[in-house]
Amino acid sequence: MSLKEITNMDLKYILVGGKGGVGKTSVASALGIALAELGKRVLIISTDPAHSVSDSFDMDFSSGEITKVKGVVGDLFALEINPSAAGEEISKAIGQPMDSDQFSQFSAIPGLGELQKGLGEDLKSIPPPGMDEALSFAKILEYAEDEVYDTVILDTAPTGHTLRLLNIPEFLDSFLGRMLKMKTFLSNAMTMMKSLFGGSQEKDRTVETLEAMKEKVLVARDKLMDEEKTQFIKVLIPTMMSVFETERLAEELDQHLISHRFTVVNQINPANDICSYCMNRHKEHLKNIEYIKSAFPDTIITEIEALDREIRGLDMLQVFKEKLL
Ligand SMILES: Nc1ncnc2c1ncn2[C@@H]1O[C@H](COP(=O)(O)OP(=O)(O)OP(=O)(O)O)[C@@H](O)[C@H]1O
Ligand SMILES: [Mg+2]
Repeated sequence: MSLKEITNMDLKYILVGGKGGVGKTSVASALGIALAELGKRVLIISTDPAHSVSDSFDMDFSSGEITKVKGVVGDLFALEINPSAAGEEISKAIGQPMDSDQFSQFSAIPGLGELQKGLGEDLKSIPPPGMDEALSFAKILEYAEDEVYDTVILDTAPTGHTLRLLNIPEFLDSFLGRMLKMKTFLSNAMTMMKSLFGGSQEKDRTVETLEAMKEKVLVARDKLMDEEKTQFIKVLIPTMMSVFETERLAEELDQHLISHRFTVVNQINPANDICSYCMNRHKEHLKNIEYIKSAFPDTIITEIEALDREIRGLDMLQVFKEKLL
């Protein structure tokens, strides 16, 4: 069995993750090609500011727009999101949050102190920490909900960021919930002030926008937890450092109820009788692969050798794809 099994599933989201430099982008790109060749309409999304999907295909997808991947049989599209640009866009959509000076203008309003306490950290720094990932996640939702694509492949950033990404549905749910509370409170207060002092009564749409975002986040969370719709591919290399990190990742995925039935062990040193360094590495890798099999007994493990060239451009991605499937 190999990663070929994943092409037989009717998945909506495929997340590819693992330690830095193990081959996540190569796997995401090659799998994208494979699925497109099978007749699926596929979108690869990356939030890596280093534009690695562009580098992998040796093409330019950095425009921030969905771009068709040329030279691939079928419908493969790529999108590289710049997290800070996405952040600005969404901040604009939810309106300019209040800073504490603006807040103090309302200090006479009963209950405001409580509310401010409740909002706590969120108000001290807007956007709060983690907002980058949160906003790129929201951006991902926008495309993932789109029925235009059969499968959306997300090439994630190295493990630490992926773990933050997994916490985003909860984070956004609670953040948006608190923003909603604040917005509702303030718009009630504003209405009261306006009726006292006169002024225009135009309707503020922010509450509706926030509610819609919250709903979207909850729908996406359900999809992420549905193993028939979402699979997370763990990519690692056969070193114990990479194995330990992947074990922690697997634990976190389990906690978040995200199914990860596939494991790719990449960059295995091939045997080489005339190079003692290569042979030692090879033996060490084989030993570690045995450990990997025991650590992830219920997953489909695909083993891939270190190729003699970098995986860059369509020809090399085709070679890598054949090995992967
Ligand atoms: N099996 C392999 N044989 C040879 N080179 C490989 C193999 N797998 C990956 N590479 C090369 O290793 C480098 C890292 O691969 P890739 O960019 O796919 O990793 P990544 O996990 O996405 O990295 P990052 O954490 O920086 O996003 C690239 O230059 C890629 O071409
Ligand atoms: Mg990458």
